[in-house]
Amino acid sequence: MDIQKMADIATKLGIAFPSAEVYGGYSGFYDWGPVGAELKNNVKRAWWKEFVHGSHEVVGLDGSIITNPEVWKASGHVEHFHDPIVVCKKCGKRFRADHLIEDALDINVEGKSAEEMTEIIRENGINCPACGGELGEVKLFNLMFSTQVGPYEGSISYLRPETAQLIFVNFPRLYQVARKRMPLGIAQIGKAFRNEISPRNFLFRLREFEQMEIEFFFDPESDECPYYDEVKDYEALVLTAKMQERGEKEKKMKISEIVPDIPGREWIVHWIARSLKWYEKIGVKKDLLRVREQLPDERAHYSQGTWDIEFYFAGMGWKEIQGVAHRGVYDLSRHQEHSGKSFEAVRPDGTKFVPMVIEPSWGVDRVVLAVLFSAYDEEEKRKLFRFAPIVAPYTVAVFPLVSKDGLPEKAWEIYINLLDEELNAVYDEKGSIGRRYRRQDEIGTPWCITVDYQTLEDNTVTIRDRDSMEQVRISVDEVIPWIRERMKHWKR
Ligand code: ATP
Ligand code: GLY
Repeated sequence: MDIQKMADIATKLGIAFPSAEVYGGYSGFYDWGPVGAELKNNVKRAWWKEFVHGSHEVVGLDGSIITNPEVWKASGHVEHFHDPIVVCKKCGKRFRADHLIEDALDINVEGKSAEEMTEIIRENGINCPACGGELGEVKLFNLMFSTQVGPYEGSISYLRPETAQLIFVNFPRLYQVARKRMPLGIAQIGKAFRNEISPRNFLFRLREFEQMEIEFFFDPESDECPYYDEVKDYEALVLTAKMQERGEKEKKMKISEIVPDIPGREWIVHWIARSLKWYEKIGVKKDLLRVREQLPDERAHYSQGTWDIEFYFAGMGWKEIQGVAHRGVYDLSRHQEHSGKSFEAVRPDGTKFVPMVIEPSWGVDRVVLAVLFSAYDEEEKRKLFRFAPIVAPYTVAVFPLVSKDGLPEKAWEIYINLLDEELNAVYDEKGSIGRRYRRQDEIGTPWCITVDYQTLEDNTVTIRDRDSMEQVRISVDEVIPWIRERMKHWKR
């Protein structure tokens, strides 16, 4: 399995496909079909349930995509949010310089200046991968999409490149609304846009994508996490900055051992471990996840320390699907300075302080990609997605054995009842039963219910399990608790 094969499967099944396919697609933009829209919504719903409803300190926000351009000046995005670009002098093609060097020399040049990268290209004789022509100088290219707002020339703003800034800029009001609670987490799911120089690898590097972010504000003087005992012994594959400098590989360690003694340390461990536990719940394979500490020169302009959660994508290697960054007081201080308004919180003793922030930031599309790779399986007779039931596009399918003699009516009744109980069900009466099972296996539906002649006599149905292909016969009245029980205890 590689990324192109996954893209082909996803296109065929209507999970996600190039936007505006009939016009040849549009690089970096994808549309989600019926199966993919369900899958993606389920991932987002599971996230909200886990981290917003499931966290005493966290509340939600739905901020705007376009906002006052002052936000992006204050945040540093106008000045710093760029990638290195290099143009071929012969064919005019544009490339992301760091990726080009990485591909040609297998070295990491993150954090190097444009001049340094130009030099590496010259010294190593790297030419245009498309036509072999000479490459020009490396320049910096801002990744924000700009747009004109209103019918006035010169009213330029930007599509947000991260959802996070809407949380920072609204902090003074959100803090009041949350009745001055501290620590305070604010969560948001929404679109983000980056004019990536070379979008590639299906859903991995997009120009329009979605993020799920939490900005977790805390007082550096009382930064204990009350749930620390639950996570302090949690182990995962890790790769620290030091291990990278020594050329070592990732190994199993406690997360609590890899975060240094900085303000908010316990919360950082908490957010990393909780994220990893959540990945298991949504069916991402644990042995394909690792936590990698970013090297100091890789970090974003606001970061004092960042731990990436990476997934091992066959054919691509370890790639970031989530970042957990310590943004310190950078963002709130910048907005305080630029707006002239107070971004401070108040301690019980009346002293004021600018809260620090830890930011777990997930890319929805990359998480879905990790779910797809973890779930895909090929057997001799079938190809299927073994999705965790909480994210499976459909939880259960309902079939009448034949489409006559009152079986469709009974099956329809069961189907409607499942929907009423908020289980995502699908009804299918077309084709042989074997073919209907295969169709559901292909899109990862965990259970199929079949209504047959016996159902009309004793009100029982068969339920077939996607993974074991075993069938059990149970009473219609037991169907919903039977499914709920298995959803609760599902493990890969
Ligand atoms: P990369 O180094 O791969 O460009 P990044 O470090 O710029 O990623 P962040 O700025 O930390 O990414 O963004 C937070 C999360 O948003 C990432 O972990 C990723 O899941 C998601 N994300 C960022 N850029 C993209 C993109 N172009 N397409 C899809 N998801 C993205
Ligand atoms: N909010 C983190 C990022 O998108 O970079």
